Amino acid sequence: MQLIDGKKIADDIKQEIAAEVEQMVANGQKRPHLAAILVGHDGGSETYVAHKVKACEQCGFKSTLIRFEDDVTEAALLETIEKLNNDTDIDGFIVQLPLPRHISEQKIIEAIDYRKDVDGFHPINVGRMSIGLPCFLSATPAGIMELLARYNIPTKGANCVVLGRSNIVGKPVSTLMMQKSNPGDATVTVCHSATKNLKEICAQADIIIAALGSPGFVTADMVKPGAIIIDVGTTRVPDATRKSGFRLRGDVDFENVAEKCSYITPVPGGVGPMTIVSLMKNTLLAGQHKIY
Ligand code: GUN
Repeated sequence: MQLIDGKKIADDIKQEIAAEVEQMVANGQKRPHLAAILVGHDGGSETYVAHKVKACEQCGFKSTLIRFEDDVTEAALLETIEKLNNDTDIDGFIVQLPLPRHISEQKIIEAIDYRKDVDGFHPINVGRMSIGLPCFLSATPAGIMELLARYNIPTKGANCVVLGRSNIVGKPVSTLMMQKSNPGDATVTVCHSATKNLKEICAQADIIIAALGSPGFVTADMVKPGAIIIDVGTTRVPDATRKSGFRLRGDVDFENVAEKCSYITPVPGGVGPMTIVSLMKNTLLAGQHKIY
């Protein structure tokens, strides 16, 4: 079994981006500038946004964090989005999700100019992705494809089972895996809560992409010997031995599955670091005005 080291690949890519940014600056271009809107004080969101700001520094980007309290109105948020859409110094921006219940996430996403939508959540970017046009790819699926590419994992003709049908992982990664490209060109099956014979379907898979948010869901009996396992799960589970009181657990029963498969992503240190680096890649594209 070979461990897929997402942390190492992410560090490599950040260095590649930083070198490209220095080249841009040397050529008289401006540094790419990412803005993030954070509403409230959810622990997970705070951590994610702090990691994104730090990654911007590592890539040589400018970053701006805009904070609102939980009681911010939808109108105030929309007004800020409009300002960012029109601010020529901002190349791309994100609104960290989830948002409080009184705010429509879909309305917020659709208010973002798709040319600055570095999360790739706007329907124009999702639509372009699904027909293979240049676009901002959403971060986690793009990170998974990058890992497969950098490890030269063959995907053409492979049976790929995606567990989960979320808009931000399951649906887009299944689209990318079936696209006629490399990586891609796989035969994709998407399983979800209504799927019958899920274990049998998984046991036929050459590649399993687990993105359902259920810790330890994929057990060794569901894995074909030599399969490739991509674990997208990052559930916080209580752990009294940690200062934080929790640890991250993936959707795969790592200990028992690892000895049976050919490649596996650890949690943490697998897909997670790649997600942030995909956002950085999109910000670089935005700074270079490559999506229009
Ligand atoms: N919340 C969880 N993942 C993401 C992400 O990739 N982008 C944003 N904006 N919010 C998230």
